[in-house]
Amino acid sequence: MPLRDTPFKTIIEPFRIKVVEPIRFTTRQERERALQDAGLNIFNLHAADVLIDLLTDSGTGAMSSEQWAGMMRGDESYAGGRSFFRFESVLKSITGLKHIFPTHQGRAAERILCGVALRPGDLVPSNTLFDTTRANVEAVGAIGLDLPIAEERVPSALHPFKGNMDVAALRRTLEEDATRVPLVMLTVTNNSGGGQPISMANIRAVSEVCREFGVPLFMDAARYAENAYFIKLREEGYADVTPRAIAQEMFSYFDGATMSAKKDGMANIGGFLALNDDELAAKARAMLILTEGFPTYGGLAGYDLEALAVGFEEALEEPYLRYRLRSIEYLGERLTAADIPIILPTGGHAIYIDAKELLPQVPQSEYPAWALSLVLYLEGGVRSVEIGSVMFGRQPDGSEQPAALELVRLAFPRRTYTQSHVDYLAEVLLHVGDMRERIRGVRMVEAPPVLRHFSARFEPAHGALVV
Ligand code: F0G
Repeated sequence: MPLRDTPFKTIIEPFRIKVVEPIRFTTRQERERALQDAGLNIFNLHAADVLIDLLTDSGTGAMSSEQWAGMMRGDESYAGGRSFFRFESVLKSITGLKHIFPTHQGRAAERILCGVALRPGDLVPSNTLFDTTRANVEAVGAIGLDLPIAEERVPSALHPFKGNMDVAALRRTLEEDATRVPLVMLTVTNNSGGGQPISMANIRAVSEVCREFGVPLFMDAARYAENAYFIKLREEGYADVTPRAIAQEMFSYFDGATMSAKKDGMANIGGFLALNDDELAAKARAMLILTEGFPTYGGLAGYDLEALAVGFEEALEEPYLRYRLRSIEYLGERLTAADIPIILPTGGHAIYIDAKELLPQVPQSEYPAWALSLVLYLEGGVRSVEIGSVMFGRQPDGSEQPAALELVRLAFPRRTYTQSHVDYLAEVLLHVGDMRERIRGVRMVEAPPVLRHFSARFEPAHGALVV
């Protein structure tokens, strides 16, 4: 995808660097020590001991000079601050939604929505709910129902819009008992399924079914700008439409949205809940005041609202989106060429390595994706995250069940790393790929009862991680 007005094909970072933050190089021995001290749990590492940190793309990006300038303009008035009206007007113009409530991050918006819209026993169908959304649905006694298309569950299956929802399955659910479904939620892009986009056609089809049954449709908009650009690149009829206009069309099919603005809001903290329904909005406003703050700041500082107002616009700029999606695609191509199995096609914010496929000698009971993420740190100082049996294996009754997939996610902070960082990453991953047969699993020696991946401790199951 060369720029229209130049013959050159190289996609460069569409920014120059004004402030730098050094990263620290460590020796293999230091990393071995750091991992030992961390109980072989990457969440326990000190960030200063990490060279390239791909734990998450959430709140970890770099802000622009315009965002920093905006921070100085932040209005810290308790009520009716100027910064809120700026935030609200940008979001209204992108989403077209009527009521905009700032929150301190995505899960706060989810908590409020679930608190005001759901009752125990309700069903919330989705392409795939993100973990915090599912947890908030379940916290009020409702049930999250993931209805992705079949291709989503097959890492190697190529599909341009693997984040799509199974519309026929949604229709069946609504035909059975629409009164149990207070809302349908589309996660855009689908993070748990590999950062995969959803097509405009699928959004439209889902919204038509929702309208037929009188059920409101909500967007989890964490990565909606990346999704808009995938539509531009891959869906017929959108090649000449701007990402902003695509985003506006996407939102036009929805009745509300929650967003973790730590992603496509391009800021370090923030989120929002947006609603069209006046009655629901009145309830949400009351809950917001109770748990987040006055409706014109909702748990954020005035300067955060300013940084976000600028960030929402910047996330829709085409040179940025082109560079972002291409960095990830480029790393994906390097890995595929070296036979390292990943979720294909590459998504918007991360690479997901299929550790079950890469390390067939490590049984799921010895957590292959966890072991692989440890080896990536040990060899190259790279921090990733396991999305597999450590994260999902423990059942509510305390029993253990292997997860469907054993993935290692390498999520890219926005505007933070450059091409040479990506080349370095490719080199580390290829090196670890070469030693795949020597990698061994781990045993969990200590685990808290809930969200165990954050603090469990491990030891090598066979004496060493690498033999
Ligand atoms: N929805 C999606 C799709 C997300 O990816 C996240 C967070 C949230 C909601 C919750 O937002 O963290 O602001 O409360 N995802 C992060 C990640 C944590 O690493 O993927 P939050």
